Amino acid sequence: MTTPASTGTGTLDVRDSRTGTQYQLPITDGTIRANDLLQIKAGADDPGLRSYDPAFLNTASCRSAITFIDGDKGILRYRGYPIEQLAEKSTFLEVAYLLRHGELPTQAQYDELVYHVTYHTYVHENIRKFLEGFRYDAHPMSMLCSSVAALSAFYPDAHHVHDEEQRNISWIRLIAKLPTMAAFAYRHVKGLPIIYPDNALTYTENFLSMIARMSEPRYEPNPVFTRALEVLFILHADHEQNCSTNAVRAVGSSHVDPFTAVAAGIAALFGPLHGGANEAVLYMIKEIGHPKNVKAFVEEVKSGKGEKKLMGFGHRVYKSYDPRAKIVKKLADEVFAQVGMDKDLEIALELERTALEDEYFIKRKLYPNVDFYTGLIYRSMAFPTDFFTVLFAVARTAGWLAQWEEMLLDKEQKIARPRQIYTGYDERPYEPRINERFPRFGSKDSLRR
Ligand code: CMC
Repeated sequence: MTTPASTGTGTLDVRDSRTGTQYQLPITDGTIRANDLLQIKAGADDPGLRSYDPAFLNTASCRSAITFIDGDKGILRYRGYPIEQLAEKSTFLEVAYLLRHGELPTQAQYDELVYHVTYHTYVHENIRKFLEGFRYDAHPMSMLCSSVAALSAFYPDAHHVHDEEQRNISWIRLIAKLPTMAAFAYRHVKGLPIIYPDNALTYTENFLSMIARMSEPRYEPNPVFTRALEVLFILHADHEQNCSTNAVRAVGSSHVDPFTAVAAGIAALFGPLHGGANEAVLYMIKEIGHPKNVKAFVEEVKSGKGEKKLMGFGHRVYKSYDPRAKIVKKLADEVFAQVGMDKDLEIALELERTALEDEYFIKRKLYPNVDFYTGLIYRSMAFPTDFFTVLFAVARTAGWLAQWEEMLLDKEQKIARPRQIYTGYDERPYEPRINERFPRFGSKDSLRR
């Protein structure tokens, strides 16, 4: 949540019209404390006033020093550093370190980081066997999610989440092993032999090697692809309190181990409204088929009353151009210069142009988000469509872990436990006559279908 200095501190004077009582609620950092509402009661047996905020539209769930977003101005910073500068000058591992520790590493710290991450790229052979148990058509996100959850069984000491040493080694293991497991999932689905990590390569080079290497004795990474992947990893590394980060924080708040908490993040990321959007963009472009069909498609989206969306457009926080989308669009030009123009780029450009000029999208401040062009880049690098979200998950692991640890060390945090407004039945007696019960869930036949 953006809290410019002008929102500052002060008090909110409220009068409860039910009782006529006047209250003063302190304002800090542009927020009031939800618990301060509890003193506002309509009567002696009233538990106190609560706020109702489905989907957290206007509720800050934590204080965080990791990522800053100004959605109106299109600003994204990790630990104060603008995303544009990090994307241009940094490496993914440097950014992962920055997200966790709050500062960029010195040369000695960076060398140590690279050493440890490289050392831990291998996974237990049983993880490979575990992945081999999936069918040929398994979605790689399902495979990644369950195998990351399975890692907690391989490292039982990771549940000592208050032990800093355990947190350190779990962080290294997750950052190091995610690309390996993602690549194993890819090779399994393709029916290709597993390629083990090559520790002479950099983080992204090694990932590309495990994905693409065939019989050559030494894998020669394409430098344009390596840099493109590095930049995309940096852009996806964190994005403050999004759906999957909230899932990691909420699951982690029970003090479960970080492997299980990150698996929850992967599960949340899988959905088409979140990380799955990059995959959905390509399916949408395929459905459109030709630039001449764009207008009709946009009209269909507009008349669908929210049922059909323009995938890769819109964002809960950005109400102007997503700064990541700008970088991705430039990156796409560099990759296409290397591999040739993507045949669907024309459709994407026409779609963007049409939407940005359309009153419906202008009024709702719907701009392309990071996922709009990433799919086209990934495809031109020969990644299959259902693998796009896996690439997102590998990168976002850095952010999830930084946010998980921040939550764990935050003295104000407790187990996540939202309230509800109960809308169900009042108390009623059990109905023992089975034929008198209301057939709420349909007939046996409908259950079998
Ligand atoms: N296409 C058409 N209409 C849209 C779109 C879209 N992509 N996004 C929002 N709207 C409409 C929506 O129907 C609503 O209209 P109305 O006011 O008439 O009811 C209005 O814009 C406000 O939308 P909202 O659903 O209240 O916005 P939200 O903040 O709840 O949802 C979103 C944000 C990203 C889920 C949504 O914009 C969306 O579904 N976009 C498509 C999926 C997508 O690209 N997701 C990737 C997000 S970026 C990466 C990430 O975070 O993973």
